[in-house]
Amino acid sequence: MTPISIHLKGKVVLLTGAAGYLGSAMAHGFAQAGGMVYLNGRNQSSLHKLCDEIEASGGQASVLSFDVTDSVAVSEALQHIEKKHGRLDVLVNNAYYGKGGTLEVSTNEDFTQSYHIAVTAAAGLIRAALPLLRRSVDHSTAGASVINVSSMYGLVSPDLSVYETAQAANPPFYGAAKAALLQLTRYTACELAKDKIRVNALCPGPFPAPAVERDNPAFVDKLAQKVPLGRIGVASEIAGPAVFLASDAASYVTGATLPVDGGWTAW
Ligand SMILES: NC(=O)c1ccc[n+]([C@@H]2O[C@H](COP(=O)([O-])OP(=O)(O)OC[C@H]3O[C@@H](n4cnc5c(N)ncnc54)[C@H](OP(=O)(O)O)[C@@H]3O)[C@@H](O)[C@H]2O)c1
Repeated sequence: MTPISIHLKGKVVLLTGAAGYLGSAMAHGFAQAGGMVYLNGRNQSSLHKLCDEIEASGGQASVLSFDVTDSVAVSEALQHIEKKHGRLDVLVNNAYYGKGGTLEVSTNEDFTQSYHIAVTAAAGLIRAALPLLRRSVDHSTAGASVINVSSMYGLVSPDLSVYETAQAANPPFYGAAKAALLQLTRYTACELAKDKIRVNALCPGPFPAPAVERDNPAFVDKLAQKVPLGRIGVASEIAGPAVFLASDAASYVTGATLPVDGGWTAW
C-alpha cells in the first residue's frame, strides 16, 4: 500500500488573500506542512509581516502582491513563479472583499462586484495558471490541486434573526457568488481531470475574526448556538482540511465540497 502522505514537501503553493483571517492560518499550515508558499494580497505590509512570521518559524514563503481582478498583474505574478520553479502545484482562491446587506438594501452593483471577485477572478486565475499547474506532474504523479474557498453560505441561507440590522446581515450577493464558485469547482474538476489537476472547494462555517468576538460577544454566542459542535471555529482549524486537499493524500478527491463548519450545514 502507498504510504499516506499528508505533507506538502517540495510543493509550490500560491494562496490569494493570504494575510486575511483564514488566509494567514492556511499560509502557516501550508508552510508547516513543507510547502513553499507565495503569499498574495494587495496590502504589502501585512503580507511581509506574515512572511516574516512564517520564516521565523522555519517555513518557506515569499510575498507576491497583486490584485486578483487585474489580469495583467495575474499573468506577471505567474511568470515570476514560472521563472523560479517552472510549475505550480497548489492554487488556493481565497481572496474576498465584501460587505453586509439583505436583498432589499443591496444593489445590482453589489452582485456584480461579489461575483467578480469570487467567481470571475478565481476562474481567471485558474485559466492563467493552467500551463504551470499541468507541469505539477513533473514533481508528483498526483498532479496539481486547486482549492476554491467558498462558504457555508454557498450551501445554505443565513438565519437573519442572528443579525441586529439588515446592513449587518450576511448578504445574498455573497451567498449567490459562493454557490456559483461551487459549481465552477465541479465544472473545472471535470474539465481538468485529464491534466491531473484536482479542483475542490472548502466551505468554512462561522469563523468570526477576534475583533468581532471582542466587540460583539452576543452575536458570537448566537452563532455558536447554531453549531452542532456548540462553538465558533478557530482560524487554525481551516488549515488541516486545506493541507489535506492540497496534499497527495487527496489524490482521488476532485470536484468535492468540504464543509468546515462544526456541523452547521448538517442539520
Ligand atoms: N471568516 C469566516 O467566517 C468565513 C466563513 C465562510 C467563508 N469564508 C471565506 O474564507 C475566505 C477568507 O475569509 P477571511 O475571513 O479570512 O477574509 P478576510 O480576513 O477579509 O481576508 C480576505 C483577504 O483577501 C484579500 N483581498 C481582497 N481583495 C483582493 C484582491 N482584489 N486581490 C487580492 N487579494 C484581495 C485581502 O487583502 P488585501 O486587502 O490586502 O488585498 C484580505 O487579506 C473568503 O473567501 C471568505 O469568503 C470566511
